[in-house]
Parts: sequence; structure tokens; C-alpha cells
Amino acid sequence: DYIRLLRGLVGLEEEMTQALHLKRVIILPGDSEADSAVQRELGRVTAGVVGQCLGDNMTIAVSGGSTMASVAEAVNFSAPSTTVVPARGGLGEKVEYQANTIAAVMAGKLGGRYRLLHIPDGVSEEALEVILADDANVRVVAEIIRQADILVHGIGQAAEMAKQRGLSANIVDELVRRGAVGEALGQYYTIEGNIVYVTSSIGLHLDDLAGIRTVIAVAGGGKKAQAIMAVASTGSHDVLITDEAAARAIQQII
Ligand code: G3H
Repeated sequence: DYIRLLRGLVGLEEEMTQALHLKRVIILPGDSEADSAVQRELGRVTAGVVGQCLGDNMTIAVSGGSTMASVAEAVNFSAPSTTVVPARGGLGEKVEYQANTIAAVMAGKLGGRYRLLHIPDGVSEEALEVILADDANVRVVAEIIRQADILVHGIGQAAEMAKQRGLSANIVDELVRRGAVGEALGQYYTIEGNIVYVTSSIGLHLDDLAGIRTVIAVAGGGKKAQAIMAVASTGSHDVLITDEAAARAIQQII
């Protein structure tokens, strides 16, 4: 905390809390893009915030990504009545970074339970409906996700995430043309928080989080400044945990 005060990060937290209409912003010193120790620190602090929000018999929904993998790794307390679920269906990325894996790792650390969704990314709406109609387990897990108490998710840069997820070059171009800069939970947003594109999937969407008590986003690195602003501008978040590199870049924009 002393270092955060010294570097003016506490004042910047206040400024960002106001500008992005959040309840709480935490800024960690350093740049997680350049220094993996800072990414681990993002994970550790985010895991601590989750711990503060957690009560008995709660459900945590988690997204995928390398930042969220550090969150799951950093959990160092037990909460055996907790259930962890992926925030949405979507397989295809590196297995360590898939939401299912992160849910299982986090549940393991908590000594709790997990429920998973085995649905590939990019399945059509029609196919998802068939799966939902046909598979009682998917229906049960989808309902558990919808009623999660806490959502914790990462934020990606729109074009980068779209390419990584294998969207066609045409769609990537279209996303960029329409101003998409940020991605979370398979949804792509402009810097004002307007939705540009949605990957069809089962699970949570940022514009449909009415039932979720606490929504926590975690992302760092100067390159993600616009992406973080885009996702925060959707107005669905309570807490943002970020790093100094992203926060200083955001400060230039707000
Ligand atoms: O949706 C967000 C991305 O999965 C974030 O991934 O933490 O590896 O940058 P990352």
C-alpha cells in the first residue's frame, strides 16, 4: 500500500472509480504485459477480492484467459461450500486458459465443487438450442451459471481475441471497422461500451447480469487500456483490478 501511495496510484484509483462508474478500482504497480510477476500479483489481489466477497454456498463464475489462470492459481484459502462454473461455454483455446480448466483449478484450491460446460466456441444458435433441448446436464449447469453470486472475468483486445478464437478475417475486419476495441465473455465492444459482435454461447453475457451480486474484471498492460474502458463502459461492473501501465494509459484518455 505504501508503494501505491508513493506512486500516486491511490489518487488514480479514485479518479478511475469516478470516471468509469465503478465501486472500486485497484491499481497494482508495474506492467503485467512486460513482467509476469505483476500478472501473478494481479491474480493474487483478485483472488483476495473474491475471498472478501465469498459467503457460504456461493457460486463463482469465471472466464478464461491467462490472467484468470493466475487468479485461480493464487487462491490460497478454503471455501468448501463453493461451486465454481465457467461463465460461458467455449472450448478451443489452449486448455490451461479455458474457462472450464480455470473453474476446476479454482474449485480445487477452494476445496469446493465445479460444474463444467463442454461446448465448442462458435456453435450456431440453432445448434445450441438443440444441445440445450437434448442435454439435461447442460440445462442444469446453464441455470447454475445464470444464478452465480460472483462473476470474475478477464478482458481482451477485440481484434486479438477475435483472431485467437478463429473468427474469419472478414469478421475481424468488420469488428475493427465498427470500432470494437474490447472483448469479454465472447462479446465485443466499442470504447463507449456499445456491443458490436457476440459469439453465440451458453452462459453469461455482460448485458444480462441482473442476478449476479458482484462482477469483478481483471486486466492489465498498456495495450489493454481501450479494451478495459470499453468493457467498464458497459456499466455492469463493481470492481476492476488492473496495473499501473493500463491505468496510466487510461488516464490519458479519460
Ligand atoms: O476475454 C479475455 C481474455 O481471455 C483475456 O485473456 O488474460 O490471456 O489476456 P488474457
